Amino acid sequence: MEKVFIFDTTLRDGEQIPGACLNPREKLEIGLQLARLHVDAIEAGFPISSPGDFEAVKGIAERVKGPTIVALARAVRKDIEAAWGAIKKAERPRIHVFLGSSDIHIQKKFGLDRQKALERGLEALKFAKSLCPDVEYSTEDASRTDPDYLVQIVEQVISAGATVVNIPDTVGYAVPQQFGWLIAHLKERVSNIDKIVLSVHCHNDLGLATANTLIAIENGARQVECTMNGLGERAGNASLEEIVMALKTRKDYFKFSTTVNTREIMRTSKLVSRLMGMSVQANKAIVGANAFSHSAGIHQDGILKDRATYEVIRPEEVGITEHTMVLTARSGRHALRHKISEMGYDLQEKEFEAVYNQFLSVADKKKRVYDEDLAVIVEDVIFAYLDAAELYSLESYKVTTGNGEAPEARVRLAREGVILESSAQGDGPIEAIFKAIDKIVGAYHRLEDFQVKAVTETKEAMGISTLRVSRQGFRATGRGSSTDILKASARAYVQAINRLYWLVRRNSKEPEATGSREQGAGSREQGAGSRER
Ligand code: KIV
Ligand code: ZN
Repeated sequence: MEKVFIFDTTLRDGEQIPGACLNPREKLEIGLQLARLHVDAIEAGFPISSPGDFEAVKGIAERVKGPTIVALARAVRKDIEAAWGAIKKAERPRIHVFLGSSDIHIQKKFGLDRQKALERGLEALKFAKSLCPDVEYSTEDASRTDPDYLVQIVEQVISAGATVVNIPDTVGYAVPQQFGWLIAHLKERVSNIDKIVLSVHCHNDLGLATANTLIAIENGARQVECTMNGLGERAGNASLEEIVMALKTRKDYFKFSTTVNTREIMRTSKLVSRLMGMSVQANKAIVGANAFSHSAGIHQDGILKDRATYEVIRPEEVGITEHTMVLTARSGRHALRHKISEMGYDLQEKEFEAVYNQFLSVADKKKRVYDEDLAVIVEDVIFAYLDAAELYSLESYKVTTGNGEAPEARVRLAREGVILESSAQGDGPIEAIFKAIDKIVGAYHRLEDFQVKAVTETKEAMGISTLRVSRQGFRATGRGSSTDILKASARAYVQAINRLYWLVRRNSKEPEATGSREQGAGSREQGAGSRER
């Protein structure tokens, strides 16, 4: 079977979702997991967009081994230099240059004509090629581009040295037959097409991203760009798990393979969902909570007789297993260390000690600690260590409530060694805690989304709280876990506030700026505005 290359852009297109902004350590964890998933290429980010993203891409390029590491750049010299600066130490670096090709992009965005736009693209491509042997060229908005002009562009960028040419359906406008035709047209009309890997990148505005991607493969595309959980700009990108499992489950029809280790799909999906604070809809294909649960009596009866009656994918194939009991409070450091490294985490000593202490307190309350619990504990600890000295951390909280009385919360936070304390009332205990935190920080945060879930389905489950807050145009997500949901929620809120500060620093023009005080958060102009994506 012929291979289709899987190009994951969760860390670039996926990260463009408002509020899903990841810090470098989180991006690295996802990058390491994508390598375990065996994707062929990881688009790690858009280095020119901010100093923080530059650092994140650089960290992935230096640490993640196996896949090609890709950095995005507009057809502009300074973008290409930044992209190369971030990925040059990767085992397999690739610069990804993109430029609009539809008349609406060429005229409205750049004020150019087709010839001038093509010249700009070729010049950028040649410059990228002078730095890096592997260069991908994307004809942004290809599905709304005149097909004959597209043939001309593709032929010329191949002659100029592109190794991969990507045909994006940027606005999710294509329908399958038409998109399949476009790919077949390029295969037929571009004289040097066999010199490169032809790629597609589909958005899901009409819910057709996976269908468009699959028909493109049938018509000659051999690289597909996709994201975990279908995350991405607007309605998202084609979902990695859907494409990979469609090719695998219907190999009788498609006759193509990928080298993705499908047993890592669920774990990757959960990691991405937790770190980005984007929950997966329950009925989402492959990774939704209901994707393998059967509720109708007739279906349940059939499943008990033979799973194949109502199941086309075995849950184990995507890594769904019964909860594995890992450790108890009596397990020592050695067993914990072994388990953590088996799960793929690489902890520094102080992080390990913090994980051990948190593990002991969870194991005391919960008795049995499952893989899922441990993953949440580890992630909480490693992200709490990021820039810990500058950030707020939850010291303690106390809530008093009773019949007919408004709950009152007293919260203590630490910042740079100083303990700050305040109290507030709310309609419920969680609102009281959040208000007290706002008082300490000295700013009001709008709570846009708030969810509490059990990590496992046992009675003594750990709770995980995920929320999104916004302030003055910036949005950030937070996540906290504990056997106590008030504590989990307080931690999530503090984390989101820390991230808002981090976001401001990340979007500041000055790499060393520490504008993590109140006035920094309002400087949207300098920050997100400079991320022209
Ligand atoms: O959707 C798009 O066109 C993109 C390009 C940068 C490939 O994301
Ligand atoms: Zn895109």
